[in-house]
Amino acid sequence: MSQLIARFITSNTDFKTCPPARFPEFAFIGRSNVGKSSLINSLTFHKGLAKTSQTPGKTQLINHFMIDEKWYLVDLPGYGFAKVSKEKRREFEKMIFDYLIHRENLTCLFVLIDIRLKPQAVDIEFMSRMVEHEIPFHIVFTKADKLSQKQVNESVDVYKKFLLDMWDELPEIFITSAEKHVGREEILANIAELIQT
Ligand code: GTP
Ligand code: MG
Repeated sequence: MSQLIARFITSNTDFKTCPPARFPEFAFIGRSNVGKSSLINSLTFHKGLAKTSQTPGKTQLINHFMIDEKWYLVDLPGYGFAKVSKEKRREFEKMIFDYLIHRENLTCLFVLIDIRLKPQAVDIEFMSRMVEHEIPFHIVFTKADKLSQKQVNESVDVYKKFLLDMWDELPEIFITSAEKHVGREEILANIAELIQT
């Protein structure tokens, strides 16, 4: 797939002021520093489109990008970020949840998980809330370049077993590396399919 035409539209703190809900929308969420902004840049092949940082807590707003004049891609702040005040964290969480629950054109959410970690309570709780609210989501493992293929497979197997102890079926799973552009085609194909249906 060739490079997408991507342009930044707006940053918001409130779902009510987000761009008109005229196009299908795909949002990226996960813990701070998991690689949301990097993955968005990898998907679009635009290095500086979404701001990335080694310091967690870089993305603090709901950022809309228009892709190919056909769909919105949304970069969200991370959840579970310990280094900000409790009050600020609650504010962020409310902003994110209000957006997720009320955004009528949100077609699918991509929940990013660092492939090197065992299942973490904060991610499991987040995904359980998505199930509860019937918000469709896929799981995207990030930073696969940091592990061997064998370790990647083991890590994904552990995760799947953990989820199948809770749920009858698994969400769709993608394995990615923003650094090496792994998983890019699969995610874009999935989005293309969802736009058409
Ligand atoms: P917040 O906006 O703070 O919530 O973080 P984020 O989830 O948007 O993470 P970001 O994309 O800013 O990346 C965080 C750090 O992880 C940066 O130092 C990235 O270079 C690094 N990183 C992201 N994706 C990958 C990857 O696929 N491989 C490797 N090796 N590093 C990655
Ligand atoms: Mg970010």
